[in-house]
Amino acid sequence: MADRTGGGRICKVARAKLNLALHVRARRADGYHDLDSVFVHCVDGDEMWAEPADALSLTITGPFGNGLSTGEDNLVMRAARAVSAEYGGDRGAAITLVKNLPLASGIGGGSADAAAAIRLLVSLWDLPDDPDRMSGIAATLGADVAPCLFSWPKHVIGRGEHFTRLGDAAYRDWPVVLVNPGVEVSTGAIFREWDGRDRGGLGDTPRFADVMASGRNDLEAPARALATAIGDAIDALAAQPGAFGARMSGSGATCFALFGSCAERDAAGVAIRRAHPDWWVMETRLS
Ligand code: C5P
Repeated sequence: MADRTGGGRICKVARAKLNLALHVRARRADGYHDLDSVFVHCVDGDEMWAEPADALSLTITGPFGNGLSTGEDNLVMRAARAVSAEYGGDRGAAITLVKNLPLASGIGGGSADAAAAIRLLVSLWDLPDDPDRMSGIAATLGADVAPCLFSWPKHVIGRGEHFTRLGDAAYRDWPVVLVNPGVEVSTGAIFREWDGRDRGGLGDTPRFADVMASGRNDLEAPARALATAIGDAIDALAAQPGAFGARMSGSGATCFALFGSCAERDAAGVAIRRAHPDWWVMETRLS
């Protein structure tokens, strides 16, 4: 998450998160599910700007900004308040979120925004850049927020709060296409449709080749059943020359495929846009 400065403003990218694999292991007594997943992060996502101000404020723009509340219930505002509370003092900042990623679509948009807000404000307010402290703040905002603080590939277990860094360099830099067929799916509803069968985990330190060969997304079957367009998106991605690992991310509806080259990725993006002008398509790269 590189800072870009301009006129006292600083910027961070809230990177789109992908689940290269998402194995659901068990329903828990608290209503959540135990997961076993590999998270990777794209170099692109929402953009967040902050500049010094007397009070905290949030402005939302961008293609998916419509209808998002900018009030105290917004996760970015909650993150800002939490940073302020953790480090003491009553600090201000004018925050602008450019919402490029579709909402509630399995690529961690809200969590990545909250994580970016924590990093951005720690930087703007010149606070200690302490990963443990930032992770503690993130954990109070949602299970997926702490993993989104760090852009390295990670093995995630439990509800999403336990994660370890994956050092396998084979995870990095792949050209990737993200496709959202424009259907809204409820995360809770998709989890409720999971068939309850534990099909096994990913092992202690999952390697890229194994995750691509035998990893899966256990929420894909229930999502396909609830929204057939998700299956159409995966099939369209898988049919592109050079595509591999075409899967759904999270509980959907965004799907992705990796590509052997940028040229193949870009050609796939063009072909899918042409065939499905109403779908959201983003060409990017894993970080
Ligand atoms: O974490 P988040 O609030 O986005 O989760 C939305 C819903 O997804 C939860 O209320 C729960 O029904 C389901 N969920 C789950 N197990 C997880 C994560 C989410 O059952 N590990």
